[in-house]
Amino acid sequence: MSVIQVHDKKFQPYINAVELQQRIRELAAEISKDLQGERPLFIAILNGSFMFAADVFKYLTIEAEISFIKLVSYKGTKSTGNVVTSIGLDEDLYGRTVVILEDIVDTGKTLSQFLPQLEHQQPKKLVIAALLTKPEALQYKIPIDYLGFSVPNKFLLGYGLDYDGLGRNLPEIYQLVE
Ligand code: HPA
Ligand code: MG
Repeated sequence: MSVIQVHDKKFQPYINAVELQQRIRELAAEISKDLQGERPLFIAILNGSFMFAADVFKYLTIEAEISFIKLVSYKGTKSTGNVVTSIGLDEDLYGRTVVILEDIVDTGKTLSQFLPQLEHQQPKKLVIAALLTKPEALQYKIPIDYLGFSVPNKFLLGYGLDYDGLGRNLPEIYQLVE
């Protein structure tokens, strides 16, 4: 692994593929232990979480379902502010144990708007698994139940995370060289 260029910016190696897989195995083991017998529904938030979701799901040792959604933010009225809606959530969450899969919780804004919509469906339990979070960037309190890595407030790339559309395919995570 060495410095790479994507579009106009340079990125340096930050978390290698072995570390990533090891941490994700640990998270999957923890989730499997905690949610044994609950047949949880995993909801992966696209686009960024596709790799994380695939790996977590692969390492689970319990029965589970998975569904993929996209969150779309659009401008509401003056009184509603920005509105977040989901595309692709067909499952009824009533009484279910639900695990949200996020690649990164950055400001937390989108999730803070979306979580109440899920709660509204009255799941039995709603937990969040996030690969990454940036504590310095957080503006909304998001309860992350399963966290991969806490990282500094610097732009990251790879393993699902993009810079203007590119870099999602990298099997490791890179950090912007400033
Ligand atoms: N990289 C890519 N996408 C993101 C990031 C990041 O650091 N934070 C939120 N979305
Ligand atoms: Mg992006």
